[in-house]
Amino acid sequence: MRFPLSRKVIMEKIIDENKQGERLVLDQKKGNNRKLYIESYGCAMNFSDSEIVASILSEQGFNTTKKLEEADLVLVNTCSIRDKAEQTVRKRLEKYNAVKRHNPKMKVGVLGCMAERLKTKFLEEEKIVDLVVGPDAYKDLPNLLAEVDEGRDAINVILSKEETYGDISPVRLNSNGVTAFVSITRGCDNMCTFCVVPFTRGRERSRDPQSIIEEVNDLWNKGYKEITLLGQNVDSYLWYGGGLKKDFSKASDLQKATAVNFSKLLELCAEAQPKMRIRFSTSNPQDMTLDVVKTMAKYKNICNHIHLPVQSGSNRILKEMNRLHTVNEYKTLISNIRNIIPDCGISQDIIVGFPTETEEDHEDTKALLDYVKYDFGYMYAYSERPGTMAERKMDDDIPAHVKQRRLAEIVELQLQHSAYRTKQNVGKVVEVLIEKSSKKSDAQWSGRTPQSTVAVFPKEHYKIGDFVNVKILDCTGATLIGEAIGYSENN
Ligand code: SAH
Ligand code: F3S
Repeated sequence: MRFPLSRKVIMEKIIDENKQGERLVLDQKKGNNRKLYIESYGCAMNFSDSEIVASILSEQGFNTTKKLEEADLVLVNTCSIRDKAEQTVRKRLEKYNAVKRHNPKMKVGVLGCMAERLKTKFLEEEKIVDLVVGPDAYKDLPNLLAEVDEGRDAINVILSKEETYGDISPVRLNSNGVTAFVSITRGCDNMCTFCVVPFTRGRERSRDPQSIIEEVNDLWNKGYKEITLLGQNVDSYLWYGGGLKKDFSKASDLQKATAVNFSKLLELCAEAQPKMRIRFSTSNPQDMTLDVVKTMAKYKNICNHIHLPVQSGSNRILKEMNRLHTVNEYKTLISNIRNIIPDCGISQDIIVGFPTETEEDHEDTKALLDYVKYDFGYMYAYSERPGTMAERKMDDDIPAHVKQRRLAEIVELQLQHSAYRTKQNVGKVVEVLIEKSSKKSDAQWSGRTPQSTVAVFPKEHYKIGDFVNVKILDCTGATLIGEAIGYSENN
């Protein structure tokens, strides 16, 4: 659902599937004469996957274009997490249809989670679609395109137990040249009952740490200053020479002894590039270990921010969601994090209106919010997803207007907490990595603190990619306002 406009501060922090997907531009490769227009929706993993797709297609004669009208191939990387996300893509397909009337040779392909969920249905329901490719089948794109070129529809939605695209060097699309995503795991084995991801992205598998480190080094050499390690459930990362997480018990003694878990991977990345800022997302509380928190504390370049979705503050609802922790266990984790890293930023995901959620459950969620006082959060009304356990076993019984009211209450509370957390910075000096010009003023830079709070300050002689110490003078609900007092020691 959409939030009222006055909720803009929070909205800026929300990866909002309703907004038009970002258009991506690729470094143009000489000799390529076909034009690819690629649009991405949903999570960071989709944006990262589009960079892999662009890389694969640049070997097939495609350069990207920003102009839909001139595209030979239009690809839309889709999200299924909520119904609204799917409706957005359906609307985009209508738009492509209108454009195709003026450019009949244009081909249209659907990538990502909707492709995986709907499979051949897409070809039946949407006449405009020529190509359907699931998240593990992008390497098959050259073959599929050959089919399409011969006038046949093409589809590959096979989910893989091995594919991590570790051997593909992503083409950085629409990049600020400072921050980049590095994917470390694919799929998810957690089976939260509301979530479609295990069905659309398959079993959890981890990427070879060596290829991760190579990518991090390569990014540093190209001038990048911050990476975000990406996975649906990063704390569950486990490399023991390849293979599914669930088969680890069958690994040899040597494999077990030399296995790399998430805490170790963080350490490897932090040491490979001691000046590179390192972030990660997302952590499921049930899989996060204190080792990870200790590693964060040990390395200055690992940012003190944890995105720690909780979904609900009610034990009963957590259980129905198959989230394998209680509210008290979550609170203990928060206390441990704050003991080890006192200034750690913590953010949340919350779902309101899960089936059977009572007013009392909702009050429990509000109480948890009050307890943690998150720095920021992403809040959603429950959206029933076909095929999930919740859809099969439970009625979507909370009326839309109740979901909306509960969501508004949670958002309101989060706004207050964000403002409270932001205010704590006034008078302090924080390290900011400059990412871009401020949206509000071209005379100001915008960047983030290690806790991921946005800070703006006059540009002076500083430039994009600099690490700067900023004295915070004032703030709005979610943005720090300050002035630079010099380069930080990291620069
Ligand atoms: N581990 C993932 C979480 C995936 S989905 C990650 O890397 O981000 C992101 C968030 O969407 C979830 O934490 C949850 O709060 C929300 N979400 C997932 N399924 C949903 C549904 N059916 N309805 C509403 N929100 C949902
Ligand atoms: Fe979804 Fe739960 Fe995995 S929210 S992505 S099933 S951790």
